[in-house]
Amino acid sequence: MLAHAFLSVMTAAQAATPTSDVDDLIPLTRNEIRRLFTAATAPRPDRCPRPEMVPVASSAPSPCPGQPLPTANSRHQSRITNNGWTTSFTSVDRSEIFDIAHLRHPIAAPVAPDRLRELVGWLSPAVGARAVDLGCGEGEWLQQVLLDHPATTGVGIDHMLPASAARRTGERGLTDRVRWIETDAATWNDGLFDVVLCVGARHAFGGLEDMLVAVRQHLRPGGQALIGEMIWEGTPSAAALAALGLPSDSVPDLAGLVRAFHRHGFEPSFGHVSTLTEWDDYEFSWTGSLVDWAVRSAPTVEHRNQALTAAREHRDTWLGGLRRELGFATFVLHDVSPGPV
Ligand SMILES: C[S@@+](CC[C@H](N)C(=O)[O-])C[C@H]1O[C@@H](n2cnc3c(N)ncnc32)[C@H](O)[C@@H]1O
Repeated sequence: MLAHAFLSVMTAAQAATPTSDVDDLIPLTRNEIRRLFTAATAPRPDRCPRPEMVPVASSAPSPCPGQPLPTANSRHQSRITNNGWTTSFTSVDRSEIFDIAHLRHPIAAPVAPDRLRELVGWLSPAVGARAVDLGCGEGEWLQQVLLDHPATTGVGIDHMLPASAARRTGERGLTDRVRWIETDAATWNDGLFDVVLCVGARHAFGGLEDMLVAVRQHLRPGGQALIGEMIWEGTPSAAALAALGLPSDSVPDLAGLVRAFHRHGFEPSFGHVSTLTEWDDYEFSWTGSLVDWAVRSAPTVEHRNQALTAAREHRDTWLGGLRRELGFATFVLHDVSPGPV
């Protein structure tokens, strides 16, 4: 989910925007890690090409287990620690670790594909509407909007846009209706949109309140938003707070999240709270994909050990602090703020 939060670390800061380095909610997203290690990362090939059409966001893409990590171009040891999520790397293009981790779960949030489709189904853009996805990652949310509404167009914004987003767009026949833009969502601007999506990307803007301000700035009066955010399922334990590494009041509970929506002039319609199964699917897909690749396909012992270490550290953090305490809620919102008189 959201992530990661690793950011206090290192070199990353150079390429990052100031607001990006705060609290990413979903642990261990590939994109943040790519950003962290930009300086050490070679240009990434689209690493799992498939000629066949992808059946919408209904199934996860097949992994490509035989595909090796890119040639090593950086060989110093790194250890990322932020918000409790710690990962060690000893070599190579470390962002590739995270590409592998997300091969089976391109939705970078603890949300199942059928729940994604249900949530998007509550959006009702008119013919000719424009949608934007802020911090789009693989763009699964935006692509579902375009699939559901053939007369809409979309823009996906991410500061580390994965090549696979554009690849799947082509496979789904959406290329002519979407633009993928690799830039900082906090400063990008292209007028008003009928639908604004922002799932697990509050850190791009600084925090929950800043993200809601940004969403409003991009939304036409009376438009709809779809927001996915971290919540605490109850009063967080010391272990959970330590794992996340954020002040306890920076993450609301479910009622607090709804109050934040209201403060910003949004009325929630449909909402979904991620289940433990969705969380486990996401987290164990993350670690499982790495372990599977390490054991079956890693080209060298070094690659194998690197992948196994990343998986173990991620699993330990999830099981040792956040599981059953950190939640995730996704809401469809209507703009009900008073319009100009
Ligand atoms: C947890 S992922 C969520 C991705 C996607 N919304 C999803 O649910 O699958 C957060 C995304 O925000 C992106 N991001 C973080 N800071 C950003 C910034 N300043 N500008 C644009 N994108 C940013 C990351 O690269 C990452 O893809």
